[in-house]
Amino acid sequence: MNNVRMIEFKDIVDENNKERPMGHLTPIESGQDIPFEIKRIYYLTRVPENTIRGFHSHKELQQVLLCLNGRVTISVATPYEKELITLDDPARGLYIGPMIWREMYDFSPGSVLVVLASQHYNEEEYIRDYRSYCEIAQEYLKGE
Ligand code: TYD
Repeated sequence: MNNVRMIEFKDIVDENNKERPMGHLTPIESGQDIPFEIKRIYYLTRVPENTIRGFHSHKELQQVLLCLNGRVTISVATPYEKELITLDDPARGLYIGPMIWREMYDFSPGSVLVVLASQHYNEEEYIRDYRSYCEIAQEYLKGE
C-alpha cells in the first residue's frame, strides 16, 4: 500500500559475551532510520482490553509506530484497500504516511506503543470523519 511500509531497525545483540547476556539494543536515528525529522514522540500504555483507538487519518503527518513491549494490531486503509499489521518486535517499525485511515486494537496487557511523528500536535491536521476522509483520499490518490 502506498504510504505504508515496515522499517527494520538494527537489533544489536552481543553474542560474544556468553557469560553475561546483554539483551537487545535498538538505536533509531532521526532522518536516517526514520525518513523524517522527529518533532514529537508519544506513547500509548495501559490501554484497557478491547479498546480500539485511532479512527482517523492525517493530511500530511508522517509517523512511525513501534511496539516496545507486548503486541498490538494496526489496521491501515485507504478507500480501496486495507491491511492488518501486528507489531510485536521492538526492532521493526510501521511507517504510515499521509492520508491513511488507521485503527489500533488488540493491545496485549502491558503493551507499549510508541509513535514518532514528523510534526507537532495539530488537531487541524486530523481527518476524523470517515466519509470526509474517503472524499479527500479519493482526490489525493488520483494525484499519486
Ligand atoms: P488521538 O490522536 O485521538 O488518540 P488515538 O488516535 O490514539 O485514539 O488523541 C487522543 C487525545 O490526546 C486527544 O484529545 C488529543 C490528545 N493528543 C495530544 O494532546 N497530543 C498528541 O500528540 C496526541 C497524539 C494526542
